[in-house]
Amino acid sequence: MSNPWTNPDRLPADAVQSLAQFINARADIPDQSAAHAALVDALSPQPGERLLDFGCGTGVMARRLAPLVGESGAVVGVDISAAMLDFARTCGGSAQLSYQQSDGAVIPTPDDSFDGGAMARTLLHVEKPHEILAELRRVIRPSGRLAMLECDWGTLAVDHSDRALTRRILDWRTDTIDGNNWMGRQLVARALAAGWQIDDISVLTTVGRDETTTHFGSLRRCGELALQNGVIEQSEHDAWVGELDSRLAAGLFFASINEYIVVVRR
Ligand SMILES: C[S@@+](CC[C@H](N)C(=O)[O-])C[C@H]1O[C@@H](n2cnc3c(N)ncnc32)[C@H](O)[C@@H]1O
Repeated sequence: MSNPWTNPDRLPADAVQSLAQFINARADIPDQSAAHAALVDALSPQPGERLLDFGCGTGVMARRLAPLVGESGAVVGVDISAAMLDFARTCGGSAQLSYQQSDGAVIPTPDDSFDGGAMARTLLHVEKPHEILAELRRVIRPSGRLAMLECDWGTLAVDHSDRALTRRILDWRTDTIDGNNWMGRQLVARALAAGWQIDDISVLTTVGRDETTTHFGSLRRCGELALQNGVIEQSEHDAWVGELDSRLAAGLFFASINEYIVVVRR
């Protein structure tokens, strides 16, 4: 199934705007904001450093990093999508923040140009992850580091009375929609294959019990997509989502998922 995140520029202009607005809005949801903050901590930016934010989208991470490197540093947000970068430029920032378009096959900068980099929720969407990990290793200097954040949909736990239906919907979602949803657990092996050394691994578990986290809306979308794609019948959809709604109303909704932060060093 096609993944809109693989190259948003292939979409109609209004659809790219919607994706851009979605990632900006998502970044303000507390569990998502905490994950970006943890990625910043893991990268530990220092004043004067030159950092890369690969797959920067609307620049959410890049804007967090820019003040931390200070006026003597620089942050370059890189993305495949010119439309995302245009949107990012309208979101403000500081003099040390700039944007560059690249699909990661070749990042137009010399070897060893950066002290470090961040990559948030991007590797699952790219067509050639190995090529990108290798190219990031070229442009990040020796001993420099790359901090990566990826979710793993195989770790999604949802309480529901119909286990078989829940597994059917979630396994289909995990294996089919929006990229490689096992990227979280694959980061270590993929980084090692591209020649990186593993510095640190941490797990962020977010728990959703109400609508203030990303879980509830995301599960509702799973149900809708499974219905649209013929994975479940209308009656199964209504029963599945209906129970999630009832649980929400009764304070009995529970979902959790793991995101992984892996810091690798050249
Ligand atoms: C889900 S968004 C994440 C954006 C941002 N890192 C964040 O955490 O909000 C994934 C981004 O990866 C970009 N992308 C996908 N494939 C890419 C590639 N081959 N090279 C560079 N960027 C890519 C998309 O355009 C999109 O902006």
